[in-house]
Amino acid sequence: MKKHILVVPGDGIGAEVTAVGKQVLEVIAQKFGHEFTYDEALIGHVAIEATGSPLPEETLTKMKSADAVLFGAVGHPKYDNDPSAKVRPEQGLLQMRKELGLYANLRPIKLFDELLEASSIKPEILRGADILFFRELTGDVYFGKRERLEEGNTAYDTMIYSKYEVERIVRKAFEAARTRSKRLCSVDKANVLESSRLWREVVQAIAPEYPDVTVEHQFIDAAAMLLIKDPKRFDVVVTGNLFGDILTDEASQIAGSMGMLASASVGDSTGVYEPIHGSAHDITGKGVANPLASVLSVALLLEISFGLKAEAEAVISAVDAVLKGGYRTRDIADADTPADKVLGTNQMGEQVLAQLA
Ligand code: NAI
Ligand code: MG
Repeated sequence: MKKHILVVPGDGIGAEVTAVGKQVLEVIAQKFGHEFTYDEALIGHVAIEATGSPLPEETLTKMKSADAVLFGAVGHPKYDNDPSAKVRPEQGLLQMRKELGLYANLRPIKLFDELLEASSIKPEILRGADILFFRELTGDVYFGKRERLEEGNTAYDTMIYSKYEVERIVRKAFEAARTRSKRLCSVDKANVLESSRLWREVVQAIAPEYPDVTVEHQFIDAAAMLLIKDPKRFDVVVTGNLFGDILTDEASQIAGSMGMLASASVGDSTGVYEPIHGSAHDITGKGVANPLASVLSVALLLEISFGLKAEAEAVISAVDAVLKGGYRTRDIADADTPADKVLGTNQMGEQVLAQLA
């Protein structure tokens, strides 16, 4: 199969982990006889430094013409501590999602058995947890009108959804529920928020089209509690942009670490595949970032954008084998991990490549 992949490392550990993801693509291409070509582009802080824009026109053009995008992360401490900065790395991320119509963000939360002990949640609560989140990605408070009033002393954001935006993500979630355990949980705050009441109405209106899927509604606050209390009760979860952002960071603890969670952003055009974590300034440049979220993003890319299921499974099996071998990055190691099994980013990458080859 011939495919063109755009690699967009971005900032901080984004660059460190994406380099490993790309190596995995190269080995997969070789092993399975595919012809993948690559290009690179800038986004975020590195793009602002080079061009003044967090999403240069050239990057967007390359994204639109690629068959898939392997993405890292954006962010720099400079902006986190300066709320007045007008040009910001995350504007590049949001604009990319909007321009590419990436309205559905799939975040599979699956715990590798070997990491049962790495989580701060009890193993008996965790064992068997397997959740697929559908986070809406191009609406909500992230894209609503925001403003400062009263000489900066008052501020507002707007949580806004239109029916068609809810319909398209909810349908995707129902379709996925059909292929899994046929249970869908929709998360909102319909007891308080008008946009959530619209959300719930849409889910209720679509549900009869999927009579084989059991639907439940949870409020975001209760869902956050249940996710930790009994993660196994969830299978497919669909929710808005803000609630999905928060719930999936929480859910990363089910998988052991932020460094283990991959995501796929799909919609009207090119799919974008990225770890759910950010640029992690606290560990940037130290060579300790866990690259497995990027490696698992590659598996999603192969399966979802290219339909290469066996290749995706080979990647996941390689990760599983490395973990079974006892190898850990710092974030998933515990007191019992022998020092010689605690690996840096590149060493962990080498283990995965060795398993694949
Ligand atoms: P973060 O996700 O970058 O890091 C949160 C914590 O998890 C940190 O302690 C970090 O060291 C750890 N962590 C994250 N990924 C890891 C990995 N692969 N291996 C080991 N440990 C890992 O979130 P934070 O610290 O809130 O934000 C840092 C910057 O990233 C900010 O500028 C923020 O705006 C940006 N950000 C970007 C995102 C994106 O590009 N999609 C998403 C979230 C934040
Ligand atoms: Mg987040």
